Amino acid sequence: MATINDNYLKLKAGYLFPEIARRVSAFSEANPEASIIKLGIGDVTEPLPAACCEAMKQAVEEMSDRATFKGYGPEQGYLWLREKIATQDFQARGCDIDASEIFISDGSKCDTGNILDIFGHDNTIAVTDPVYPVYVDTNVMAGNTGSAQDGGTYEGLVYLPISADNDFTAALPQQKVDLIYLCFPNNPTGAVATRDYLKTWVDYARANDAIIFFDAAYEAFITDPDIPHSIYEIEGARDCAIEFRSFSKNAGFTGTRCALTVVPKSLKAKANDGSTVDLWPLWNRRQSTKFNGVSYVVQRGAEAVYSDAGQAQVKQLISFYLENARIIREKLTAAGFTVYGGVNAPYIWLKTPDNLSSWDFFDKLLHNCHVVGTPGAGFGAAGEGYFRISAFNSRANVDDAMRRITEKFKA
Ligand code: MLT
Repeated sequence: MATINDNYLKLKAGYLFPEIARRVSAFSEANPEASIIKLGIGDVTEPLPAACCEAMKQAVEEMSDRATFKGYGPEQGYLWLREKIATQDFQARGCDIDASEIFISDGSKCDTGNILDIFGHDNTIAVTDPVYPVYVDTNVMAGNTGSAQDGGTYEGLVYLPISADNDFTAALPQQKVDLIYLCFPNNPTGAVATRDYLKTWVDYARANDAIIFFDAAYEAFITDPDIPHSIYEIEGARDCAIEFRSFSKNAGFTGTRCALTVVPKSLKAKANDGSTVDLWPLWNRRQSTKFNGVSYVVQRGAEAVYSDAGQAQVKQLISFYLENARIIREKLTAAGFTVYGGVNAPYIWLKTPDNLSSWDFFDKLLHNCHVVGTPGAGFGAAGEGYFRISAFNSRANVDDAMRRITEKFKA
């Protein structure tokens, strides 16, 4: 009989969002008349920018003509897209990133998991608590952790607690770690990182020969001009950081799929024989072996984000969701909730009322208000007692959800 990857048996439960979907559909089946508003998973609701749709339609036309048809594209992504990203997302903000260091992919979720392919199993890995669960679960699957422990953590991982006490920004680890996951604007807390804060991490990583995995999937939501959008805005980050970006949340590509990962050519790590090895060729090798690139049509759609029209339309989308976030923040605050985030991020992180556990609050909100959010405990042990509300929905649904919640939970 074939054997399995036993690491999968260490996983505590189903992935958070399918687990929520399961509970919601059970409720829905039992209460078919309930109109449920979903502010759980951070999935966009508004249509793609018109510029992206136009570009994709034109690309489909090209694919229907032998003269302009395209087969396999470059595994790393088309150069015309990578050049626009390099100049407009990075060089325009003073980051020394070249198009050759950008890899187009079908998602940041996939890339933050896949990146582990090129790292060894003996690294000490730090994650914040709470954290985007993909970072933890992919390390469990890869065999980089021990077993699940009471309290919901995994043996072998270094957990850096984040809470209102430290502005949801983790202190540097006491011990030496090799790989560090940072996500700013933060999922789930909506917190942002200042330049000085990121510099402490870059300095730590360089002093300890560590690599930072910087997830910037929500950078487009930054409204404060002093907040960096990329870790490469910090001097020295080219030598210690890999950055993940996505078109999902800025241009609504959650169902269209396009993202990018930046692997600077200056990044290095150690091989088993003690020699120093460049990471870029390893990631290039991994991608060209296991990935055949994002479709031509979708890459043309992503390219249109960088046109003048595309930029204006993306800005409108972001403003729309940020206005939702403002409404959620203000209504919940007025109803007596303690809320965080939602200013430079599409997520509002609140303290559950009456000391309810986060899953109990989830059930109460679902049963009493027919509103779905995400229990903080699903993001880690330190997320217990908190709850995440996503601003990704129509204005009518956000208004309706806030009306239902404030009616039930008046201050
Ligand atoms: C979330 O709700 O945390 C996100 O939608 C997850 C993701 O982007 O994969």
